[in-house]
Amino acid sequence: MQAHPKATDRPSLRPEMTRAITRATGLDEPQLVAVVHSFYAKVRRDPILGPIFETRIADWDAHLARMVTFWSSVALMTGHYHGSALTAHLGLPVQWGDFERWLDLFRETAEEICSPEGARHLIERAERIALSLNTAVQQAKPDDAATFSASA
Ligand code: HEM
Repeated sequence: MQAHPKATDRPSLRPEMTRAITRATGLDEPQLVAVVHSFYAKVRRDPILGPIFETRIADWDAHLARMVTFWSSVALMTGHYHGSALTAHLGLPVQWGDFERWLDLFRETAEEICSPEGARHLIERAERIALSLNTAVQQAKPDDAATFSASA
């Protein structure tokens, strides 16, 4: 009887998946670097989003490098990102309208830099993640309305 190979003996499927995504969309690491840098340059100039980031991010080079690993994992399935995107946003003073603004700038940047397929691939993922981050952020807020009606 043939023994099952251990997980560690099997070659990773990730490089082939990454190559397939690049073939289908044109997306690769250098393009993600360009998207991330151009996008956060816009975010920093934005009158609403800019100050939210500037008060929390001291080392922009580190943030941009982290965001490239995040997008590499999300869009190219490389597994490079090891962090918790969700906890980073809990407690931020943001509403869904701020996520919409974030998405507007992200869509614009992706469409400027990527092929139509590449932009769609990134935007679909950004929209999905923005929705789940917003749900978590809003649920984590203290329920002012309930407190108010309970004490009224
Ligand atoms: C209103 C919209 C958003 C605001 C204001 C915001 C703000 C921030 C801030 C201030 C940080 C740094 C946190 C820290 O280092 O203490 C951060 C980190 C991060 N954000 Fe956002 N963000 C927004 C939306 C998004 C969306 C939609 C995504 C994903 C599609 C995202 C992905 C990330 C990731 C991956 C990190 C790094 C987390 C880590 O430390 O590993 N953010 N964000």
